[in-house]
Amino acid sequence: MSVNVVILAAGQGKRMQSTLPKVLHLLAGVPLLSHVLATARALNPAHICVVYGHGGEQVPDTLRAPDLSFVKQEPQLGTGHALKQALPLIDGRKDTLVLYGDVPLISETTLQALCAGSGERLRVLTAKVADPIGYGRIVRDDANAIIAIVEEKDATDLQRQIAEINTGIMLLPGKRLVSWLDRLSNRNAQREYYLTDVIALAVKDNVKIESCGPDDPSEILGVNSMRQLAELEGIQRQRNADRLLDAGVALADPSRIDVRGDLHCGRDVRIDINCVFEGSVELGDNTVVGANCILRNAKIGAATRVEPFSFIDDAIIGKNCRIGPYARIRPGTKLAADVHIGNFVEVKAADIGIGSKANHLSYIGDTTIGRNVNVGAGTITCNYDGANKHRTVIEDNVLIGSDVQLVAPVTVHAGATIAAGATITKDVPAGELTLTEKKQIVKPGWQRPVKNR
Ligand code: UD1
Ligand code: CA
Repeated sequence: MSVNVVILAAGQGKRMQSTLPKVLHLLAGVPLLSHVLATARALNPAHICVVYGHGGEQVPDTLRAPDLSFVKQEPQLGTGHALKQALPLIDGRKDTLVLYGDVPLISETTLQALCAGSGERLRVLTAKVADPIGYGRIVRDDANAIIAIVEEKDATDLQRQIAEINTGIMLLPGKRLVSWLDRLSNRNAQREYYLTDVIALAVKDNVKIESCGPDDPSEILGVNSMRQLAELEGIQRQRNADRLLDAGVALADPSRIDVRGDLHCGRDVRIDINCVFEGSVELGDNTVVGANCILRNAKIGAATRVEPFSFIDDAIIGKNCRIGPYARIRPGTKLAADVHIGNFVEVKAADIGIGSKANHLSYIGDTTIGRNVNVGAGTITCNYDGANKHRTVIEDNVLIGSDVQLVAPVTVHAGATIAAGATITKDVPAGELTLTEKKQIVKPGWQRPVKNR
């Protein structure tokens, strides 16, 4: 689309009661402004410019990208003054779409409709709301044509009864913009340069004014307080849940799932309560995710079960695996099919082959494990010598007893068996039983201490 997009994001957001700039507060795990940016980008505009101000450089520092420009508004003298700061950065021949950084649910469909058509016109996104308090009101004449937007603080009692409000989002004709912004004054209740005053200027200049409404009423909701942010989080959660349900995913409770990123599910996926999905997560056909799991940037193979209270971070899990309950899978882990990782097992940067199991209380880090290996309870790879990390290699069909320490770098060759309690510091030969001797001693007549009275 050949328009400029300017996103106003300089306001302080006093009512957030926070030092973080308002537009950096998170909705579904990403900054409010990122939601608006994603929608703006979907329109494929000529240019996107963000007007920031409050909170110093945090906004550009967090969201800098090659396709964006940032301009600082300092001091913040109103929405009209904010848009004026962007003028040097945008193409004056093109129309300009104004968005708000704190109105994150606005949809591409609504914006497409707002920008539709051609010719010189000013288009405003308006909505009829049950409680218009705080919003600018849309004033129409007897012929129902828009003649002004009046801010709450400047409105007469009669105007305050108008239910149609200004969402703030509008499309402005490129050729008029400079002259209109230059003609704004701050003679109003808030001593601000109101962007909304361009409506009256358009009337004067005989520019056609049109309005349209949002696709869905929740799209126009802004965030001014933590309460409103929580409300929007709820709406976003419901939207995500609806999308998953419509795609055939069985959710134990749609109000208890948080998707903070992209979740792609195959067929017949079941997700129990209180699960969090962050970044990009893919669940294969017939996977089951138990209650209270967190999955971040993970790919889970078909028919794998992730049992309750498991945390999977940046890992690829094969099909038919069983993970948890209480498993922690850390970055760089790759599990082949039919792998079992049980309770209180931590796996990091490990590559584990088909059918291998570590079912209880282990740490497996910087390790390559072959097929059909059984790692006994309490076994630890000692990968860190205090300065560097080293790798452990365990080949196919190895059986490791309980409570073994594998001091890396070390290789356990195929088919080896390691007895319980061994501390392995040298490579283990294939096919043999290896143990490190510890003598069992009996102390005849020894007595347990008794409590002092
Ligand atoms: C504005 C509109 C009002 C509309 C309402 C919708 C004006 C004068 N009023 O009112 O008609 O109903 O939004 O929510 O436009 N901002 C800046 N620089 C500034 C002031 C604001 O960048 O100097 C940004 C804010 O960060 C925010 C947006 O502009 O993203 C709106 O500012 P806000 O103060 O919330 O405007 P309202 O007074 O609510
Ligand atoms: Ca506002």
